[in-house]
Amino acid sequence: SNPITSIKLVLLGEAAVGKSSIVLRFVSNDFSENKEPTIGAAFLTQRVNINDHTVKFEIWDTAGQERFASLAPMYYRNAQAALVVYDVTKPQSFIKARHWVKELHEQASKNIIIALVGNKIDILEDNENERKVAREEAEKLAEEEGLLFFETSAKTGTNISEVFLGIGEKIPLK
Ligand code: GTP
Ligand code: MG
Repeated sequence: SNPITSIKLVLLGEAAVGKSSIVLRFVSNDFSENKEPTIGAAFLTQRVNINDHTVKFEIWDTAGQERFASLAPMYYRNAQAALVVYDVTKPQSFIKARHWVKELHEQASKNIIIALVGNKIDILEDNENERKVAREEAEKLAEEEGLLFFETSAKTGTNISEVFLGIGEKIPLK
């Protein structure tokens, strides 16, 4: 038998950190240099096989622009998993990520699986001086708050499938 487990997953994070690009890479193995900001939220699905199970990710990709901030609870309320995304070259986006982790722990379901995701690591390949969020600082937050942690590039695809497989392995499969 090959049962299907659905996982409701939400992406949160400051505008332009690459949430939609991470989803585009995961769902379509594609990347766009000039992706439009998300308006409200977008819904996408993707199936993957994990240990003989089919896992169907039901993905809510939220808008990071401040004017949409009040919508976020609608999307994380019933989520079993969340990706909290920041941009490794933008310190403000890591501060925002800390706030999202806190809000999820206060308002989302008690057993939500959260992955902290530092995106755009491809930029560091050309110039390590572009890094503005230390890996150690993010690892410390992840350890303290019980989060999975990944550094990714939606542009090159580095670690994108690992994020979703990491989530899938934490959720009990039926
Ligand atoms: P909102 O929908 O406004 O919240 O933004 P978002 O978080 O969905 O960001 P989006 O995916 O639209 O990406 C914003 C910009 O960053 C786009 O120009 C992308 O091409 C670029 N981008 C996204 N991911 C990466 C990455 O891994 N590396 C690089 N170099 N650029 C990226
Ligand atoms: Mg977007």
